[in-house]
Amino acid sequence: ALPPLRVAITGGAGQIAYSLVFMIARGGVFGDRAVDLRLLDIEAASDKLRAVGMELQDVASPFVLRCTCTTDPLEAFMDADVALLVGARPRGPGMLRKDLLAANAGIFKAQGAVLDEVASRDCKVVVVGNPANTNALLCMRSAPSLPKRNFTALTRLDQNRTAGMLAAKIGVPVSMIRNAVIWGNHSATQVPMVTFATVEEGRAVETVAARLGEGGERWVSEELVPGVQQRGKEVIAARGASSAASAASAICDHIRDWVMGSDGRVVSMAVSSDGNPFGVREGLIFSFPVVIEAGGAWRFASGFTIDEATRSAIEATQSELLEEREAALAATA
Ligand code: NAI
Repeated sequence: ALPPLRVAITGGAGQIAYSLVFMIARGGVFGDRAVDLRLLDIEAASDKLRAVGMELQDVASPFVLRCTCTTDPLEAFMDADVALLVGARPRGPGMLRKDLLAANAGIFKAQGAVLDEVASRDCKVVVVGNPANTNALLCMRSAPSLPKRNFTALTRLDQNRTAGMLAAKIGVPVSMIRNAVIWGNHSATQVPMVTFATVEEGRAVETVAARLGEGGERWVSEELVPGVQQRGKEVIAARGASSAASAASAICDHIRDWVMGSDGRVVSMAVSSDGNPFGVREGLIFSFPVVIEAGGAWRFASGFTIDEATRSAIEATQSELLEEREAALAATA
């Protein structure tokens, strides 16, 4: 059997981790491979973190070989094969967006430096804590000895939301929806694109456009796209807390496909924009459609031609990322 994967999860005492850790413990996320989990949080959350460790032990999972709860990033990231960076500073009352960005840029810059020093040389990094794309960029920049391709931010939740809404509208199981993708920032400027989305029933493949029929294009631009962009807010308004179980599930989808391959499916991940064939500026962490081989090598998906309306939306999300980058770099210089 393969040795256990060393998986670090930050924000281990937070609400996403409270779903994520137990989804991983059920098995399947890494095939039948066991994990050596390291849960990291800050001192102020250490009691709560310890409780997660207790409950995880009480799950008695054959997939969890060991679980270490720690407030020391060095211990959490030592030889890590996978780093799920969920922990972030939440927006406090009256806190400006700019201050939030700066606080998080500092956290992710510091964590990148530790990863650079002690993580496995092929450590796969998934940034979830917001602003996820810019945090991932800061993390990548302070880990120059790790491959740039190994830094990603989560936009799979946005993709899953898009596919879920499409499936509900068309009236098919969501597993039949393919090629619904997300471009750009994990924020309200993100660009959900269903131009090349299909409904696949066995060997029959139909375009989503054909299934939506008359008025479909309008429904996509007036309902679906804003619906996906605002879904996070809608959940907060209804639940009084931000999406957690769906985020955890999307993290499992993202890392499972990255470690085991996406089986020919196109998936959305925010990755380094360097060398992208879509005309997006380099030097950003930007969500693209990608395909992942078994073993973890991802490549930009082909066939996603960008029409004029999508192009201008992509430029807007790119501008936002350029601004965030500038502010984050200035704050951590
Ligand atoms: P939460 O506030 O419940 O938990 C965050 C945890 O991170 C807390 O326990 C906190 O103590 C910890 N933390 C803060 N600074 C840390 C540090 N330097 N090192 C280690 N741990 C640290 O938040 P929740 O709901 O679990 O969300 C986590 C993050 O994920 C938030 O930034 C949220 O905005 C983001 N998010 C991103 C999504 C995406 O699709 N990319 C979807 C949903 C949430």
